[in-house]
Amino acid sequence: MWRGIIAEYSRYLPVTKDTPIITLQEGNTPLIPIGEAIGLDFPVYAKYEGLNPTGSFKDRGMTMAVSKAMEEGVNAVICASTGNTSASAAAYAAKAGLPCFVLIPEGATAVGKLSQALIHGAKVIAVKGNFDAALRIVRDLATQKGITLVNSLNPYRIEGQKTAAFEICDQLGHVPSHLCIPVGNAGNITAYWQGFQEYLNAGISNSLPVMLGFQAEGAAPIVYNRPIEKPETVATAIRIGNPASWEKALAARDESKGSILAITDEEILAAYRLLASKAGLFCEPASAASVAGLIEMNSSGYFQGKHNVSVVCILTGHGLKDPDNAFEQAPEVITAPPDYAVIQEIVMEG
Ligand code: F0G
Repeated sequence: MWRGIIAEYSRYLPVTKDTPIITLQEGNTPLIPIGEAIGLDFPVYAKYEGLNPTGSFKDRGMTMAVSKAMEEGVNAVICASTGNTSASAAAYAAKAGLPCFVLIPEGATAVGKLSQALIHGAKVIAVKGNFDAALRIVRDLATQKGITLVNSLNPYRIEGQKTAAFEICDQLGHVPSHLCIPVGNAGNITAYWQGFQEYLNAGISNSLPVMLGFQAEGAAPIVYNRPIEKPETVATAIRIGNPASWEKALAARDESKGSILAITDEEILAAYRLLASKAGLFCEPASAASVAGLIEMNSSGYFQGKHNVSVVCILTGHGLKDPDNAFEQAPEVITAPPDYAVIQEIVMEG
């Protein structure tokens, strides 16, 4: 039985036999071939992180952050969040029996994520401001004794999230040539790069992928090399104007000879619909940025003449997190009377 990322990868993690492991058996998410479905003629895989216990990759980091918080004997955990971090923090805090406080940008968090934070018993504070403003407040608050910050500034979050890179190498049997990943606060690209490097240094793998990060056009501070005061995008998970791990994302980009590029909301939504309708994979819009970016780079000729290409796209969160977007992007429900002939006609028309 899969025991969760801490037990499975403990030799790569800062835990001891005295660390109380708070787990929901996160990790072990599937790597699903999608190349043909999205119209590309080289191997492409989706790492479907939406299948983690709370529906996003955050669980890998949160099992570490909350376990270490318990080991240190803290009184509460706190985070700022565009939604997924808060859902994950709330669930792991509930399991640990710890109070959890979350700050979210008012009106800009997908409804599924908000419902999770609430049902798990977190105190949810909606601030009239964006994620960046909320993060500034919790960073200061977490200097108070006994309150631990569980945003990705917490180094244990990165430690846990790097295990996704290990899994990709283990599942694929080799290192992918390219990794496509959405970038928001930039913790996850940092974690993957660390994970791939650690597997190389441990002698388990023998190469490193090129890291291709994607930000939404209206929230692309790293791409444009300046903080964005009022970030805007349909992909609310990555609606971030001043990422905390900015420098580390640049290091991942430059050391891997990769890029961090902007992708429009239209491109994100096109990839979101394509994944759902052709690959059978329902992810949230921010996650589709990885596939949108790959499609765009392929169209621009980036992969031409490259040999042994194999790409992994990270689908960071489940589509059910954000049902409002699905309804907006999908065809309407057909209403009909309970009448055989009427319904037969609809079905026969296809
Ligand atoms: N995809 C999803 C679904 C996310 O929720 C996030 C970040 C990202 C991608 C970007 O990852 O921040 O490590 O670069 N969500 C955070 C949150 C900010 O509060 O849930 P990142």
